[in-house]
Amino acid sequence: MSDSNLQQSIKVRDTISRMSFYDPPLENRNPEEHLLMDFNEPPLPPPKEVIDKIAHFLKKRAHAYPVYSDFLEVLSKYTGASQDSLLLTNGSDQAIDVILRCLLESGEEVAMAQPGFAMFKQVAGTIGCQVVGPLFPPDLHFPHEELKDAVNPQTRLIVVVNPNNPTGTSVSQDQIEDLLKTFPDVPVLVDEAYFEFTGQTCVPLLPNYPNLIIIRTFSKALGLPSLRLGYVIARPDFIVHLKKIRGPYDVNLVAVLAAREQLNHPEHWQGVVRHLMDESKPALEKYFDEQQVKYYSGAANFMLVEPHNIVKATTFLKENKILVRPMNQPISHTFRMSLRMMPDMRRFMEVYSRFLNA
Ligand SMILES: Cc1ncc(COP(=O)(O)O)c(C=O)c1O
Repeated sequence: MSDSNLQQSIKVRDTISRMSFYDPPLENRNPEEHLLMDFNEPPLPPPKEVIDKIAHFLKKRAHAYPVYSDFLEVLSKYTGASQDSLLLTNGSDQAIDVILRCLLESGEEVAMAQPGFAMFKQVAGTIGCQVVGPLFPPDLHFPHEELKDAVNPQTRLIVVVNPNNPTGTSVSQDQIEDLLKTFPDVPVLVDEAYFEFTGQTCVPLLPNYPNLIIIRTFSKALGLPSLRLGYVIARPDFIVHLKKIRGPYDVNLVAVLAAREQLNHPEHWQGVVRHLMDESKPALEKYFDEQQVKYYSGAANFMLVEPHNIVKATTFLKENKILVRPMNQPISHTFRMSLRMMPDMRRFMEVYSRFLNA
């Protein structure tokens, strides 16, 4: 379509027309060809039992609308939250979308330490809102006091990503509780996308803090990013409002069945989590220490690496079929890499050594 045709096309809201879309570099990624360390994905496919469940469903039940009640019972046991405190979403991206649309009017602000997970800014932008907040300092510790200072009468939501993507920073329970106490009238959203890697959760705080909202995902440790399943945990009186925004069938039943199988039989994914955190992570850190490569040891299944020359390092890795994620400002001197099983980590170290010795 030519530019002139584009100009004549449908007039959209000014807020949307001014924005660009969130365009993660997914083009030409091929799991058969590349070692994928760029999107914090699980290193292995789900076990056969999960695939069998999906195949059975597709043969028998794909022609009926989804119902979620059985799964909510399982998820309630897993999270320790009552069923009416849970809302399933189409990935936790949709959780971010429904929560922000529920809370924010145009011109209001979200407070979040930066850089944080990009979808918060994207969704806020569609509502005409800004994400503001302090930068992580050079050592990447959580800028707790500075975040509190950023809260003002326009702030309608505080976001804490714990551990933070992309910095890997862990935020303590005390710091989160302090935010909940200091700003009782401002909702505090804690994004626990990487909860299974840390075991640290705010769920026990829910009875004491009605302003707490938690989101999680089945895309990371639970191994199902392509199926799109996330969820919100919050007080039931907030969940009912979110239900007005999320459609009744937005979450597909293939994702739900696969997730139920993962929760009922956690041995496989828990084994992978232990392998990544207890073997891959220490081995990589030891390697970087020995090679005097600067890195930031995060709390989740990824870390930031600071090579002497970011362009040369990421290009060399790519030429050797290893994809990592170069970061944007203010950490554009780093790349983020996901942890994988030890054979893949050994391949990374072998290639990186060749880069260092080139
Ligand atoms: C912190 C954080 N939150 C949310 C998400 C979104 O995950 P999904 O939409 O796949 O559930 C991600 C994905 O990278 C993330 O890192």
